[in-house]
Amino acid sequence: MTLPKKVRIVEVGPRDGLQNEPGTVGSAVKIELINRLAEAGLPAIEATAFVSPKWIPQMADNAAVMAGIRRKPGVAYPVLVPNLKGFEAALAAGAREVAVFGAASEAFSQKNINCSIAESLARFEPVVQAAKQHGIAVRGYVSCVAGCPYQGAVEPAAVAEVAAELYRMGCYEVSLGDTIGVGTPLKIQAMLAAVAKAVPMEKLGVHFHDTYGQALANLYAALELGVATIDSSVAGLGGCPYAKGASGNVATEDVVYMLNGLGIETGVDLDRVFEAGRYICEQLQRIPSSKVARAMAAKRAA
Ligand code: HMG
Ligand code: MG
Repeated sequence: MTLPKKVRIVEVGPRDGLQNEPGTVGSAVKIELINRLAEAGLPAIEATAFVSPKWIPQMADNAAVMAGIRRKPGVAYPVLVPNLKGFEAALAAGAREVAVFGAASEAFSQKNINCSIAESLARFEPVVQAAKQHGIAVRGYVSCVAGCPYQGAVEPAAVAEVAAELYRMGCYEVSLGDTIGVGTPLKIQAMLAAVAKAVPMEKLGVHFHDTYGQALANLYAALELGVATIDSSVAGLGGCPYAKGASGNVATEDVVYMLNGLGIETGVDLDRVFEAGRYICEQLQRIPSSKVARAMAAKRAA
């Protein structure tokens, strides 16, 4: 087992984080946050979601956010799209990368996108086709890879099946979401081993919510198997509106600190991510979930 030399961090705070904060912020604040994250060296920043505003009101300003951000060359700004309607709106707003999102749990699929897993995959197929025609990259998500808030256990084979289908369709990468943060390292490794039989490990990303405090340990377990793409959220913002009690993603500051310590290259400047986190936390009037951010703040205050 050798750890990767380089890891690509996909910052999901502006979407996954802000979609589920009790406090809301205006588009100008979201734009400022995204710009600061880009300046901190993050290579990919999930900017917003083109989903129904009735389902997720926090993302209703998607087009304004896309219009307002300063696009830094070399940085990807993916957006979530659940269907063709979302794809067309994303395209009109100037998105160059989109993400479709399915689940390994039938119950979660129904609650999150109001259709079965099979129906969701049938909806994604034309999205991926349309994206190809426009030269737009598509990322795929699988939720509930370590458990579901409604049905409980989720088998690795179920995760592998959905991941394989997304990859076959043309997703350049599949991000595996522990939506409710219930995984533990060996369970995550068993799930990854099952998925890697269908999708090459270098095409997999991991997306861990930190609900049970296992995310960093699980990330290390994934790195050991060769995973080199990690989703995280600045300040550990967020949760999932269709997974009650789910807390935010693992914090970007915590991930960068750990990877720095392991000598793994990310291109991300920890101080600047910390500043971006401080900015959004001030706006939301909350304290960061990131332990690294809290420690850095305490050290600066001393
Ligand atoms: P539905 O109600 O079944 O959709 O929702 P519909 O096709 O019957 O349409 C109903 C209405 O929604 C219509 O409007 C459509 O035009 C409109 P009306 O006639 O009532 O005025 N509509 C849309 N509006 C804007 N954008 C669209 C769109 N599509 C239809 N794209 C739907 C189905 C998928 C739209 C809905 O369930 C939805 O938007 N769900 C999104 C849920 C969501 O965003 N969840 C959070 C993100 S997933 C996540 O956080 C997990 C992840 O982080 C990984 C992990 O942690 O595991 C990715
Ligand atoms: Mg998520």
